[in-house]
Amino acid sequence: MAVLRERDQAVAEQPSNMSYLDTTADVYKEAALTPDVGLCCTTTPVWAFPGLEVPEIMLQMNYGCGSTVHLRDLTNEPRVLYVGVGGGMELLQFSYFSRNSGSIIGVDVVDEMLKSCQQNLAIAASQNDWFDTEFVDLRKGNALDLPLEDASVDVAAQNCLFNIFEKDDLKKALAEMYRVLKPYGRLVLSDPVTEDPIPDKLRNDEGLRALCLSGSLSLEEYIEMITEAGFGTVEIRAKRPYRVLDPEHYDTDQLIYLESVEVCAIKDPMPADGPCVFTGKNAIYFGSEEFFDDGNGHVLMPNQPMAICDKTARSLSSLNRNDLYISESTYFYDGGGCC
Ligand SMILES: C[S@@+](CC[C@H](N)C(=O)[O-])C[C@H]1O[C@@H](n2cnc3c(N)ncnc32)[C@H](O)[C@@H]1O
Repeated sequence: MAVLRERDQAVAEQPSNMSYLDTTADVYKEAALTPDVGLCCTTTPVWAFPGLEVPEIMLQMNYGCGSTVHLRDLTNEPRVLYVGVGGGMELLQFSYFSRNSGSIIGVDVVDEMLKSCQQNLAIAASQNDWFDTEFVDLRKGNALDLPLEDASVDVAAQNCLFNIFEKDDLKKALAEMYRVLKPYGRLVLSDPVTEDPIPDKLRNDEGLRALCLSGSLSLEEYIEMITEAGFGTVEIRAKRPYRVLDPEHYDTDQLIYLESVEVCAIKDPMPADGPCVFTGKNAIYFGSEEFFDDGNGHVLMPNQPMAICDKTARSLSSLNRNDLYISESTYFYDGGGCC
């Protein structure tokens, strides 16, 4: 049997009669009581906004695998739901943009995590003149059954929680986010994904799953789950190296390479011909006419890039024109678009 890293080994020794959701709650109870630096660390920089001081304890308890705080989503003081609160860093960052009582709702199933988060927010208030703990409404609740009204938030976010869920639960969690979002509201997610097959023995290892190491889907499956929940537009905002599971330390014959993605899904109507998924592709027309019009809403001016969704990229490619360039996906889509 391959050697697991020390922390992963301790978790893997949980009694086998617990459901993986109980194991997950236990892992995060421990991570609430004793900060576990590096549990889910990434190369994503921690946002530093003018006048925002993130307390050290929040940095130590940063259990995310990307950022769900994006300025473009946060105009007009949106009401934000954040599921899986961790140490509270992203609650604080969201509060920066919505400085009203109860405008940021934090939901977590682990009592100890809620308590640590509350304490950390009090520290943040002592270090940030603008911040009042009243801005954040912490609620005990489960991602699979959210304690919120239908259509009640503008932005719903989760960071590094949904990858832990088995597919049926992920479906429920996404349906819950869809339910509580207002029309045209935004779901912002950050999770690991992998294009490598994960052996069942690792997938079924509750401890590794809870540590965000073995539940990942491929990016395509992940997007499919999101669009099946009803979101008409999906943007891939970032994709970064995350972890390697190697045969010496994990029970696998092959290296498994994980990446972390940042995704925004918009609750807009589903287009008749299917969702618009933006992975960073662009079309450039370089012919001699004044412009190129595909007759489907895309008018390309000579040698100017137009961001297009993957569906449009497929349809333009199928024209087989020698004056149209369709770029590869950059997985860094930051606005603009065709649909
Ligand atoms: C990997 S941590 C991420 C924490 C935080 N989002 C961050 O970026 O630092 C997962 C979080 O989800 C919480 N959690 C676990 N299972 C949950 C569930 N079923 N419903 C809601 N929260 C859950 C944990 O207590 C923990 O706070």
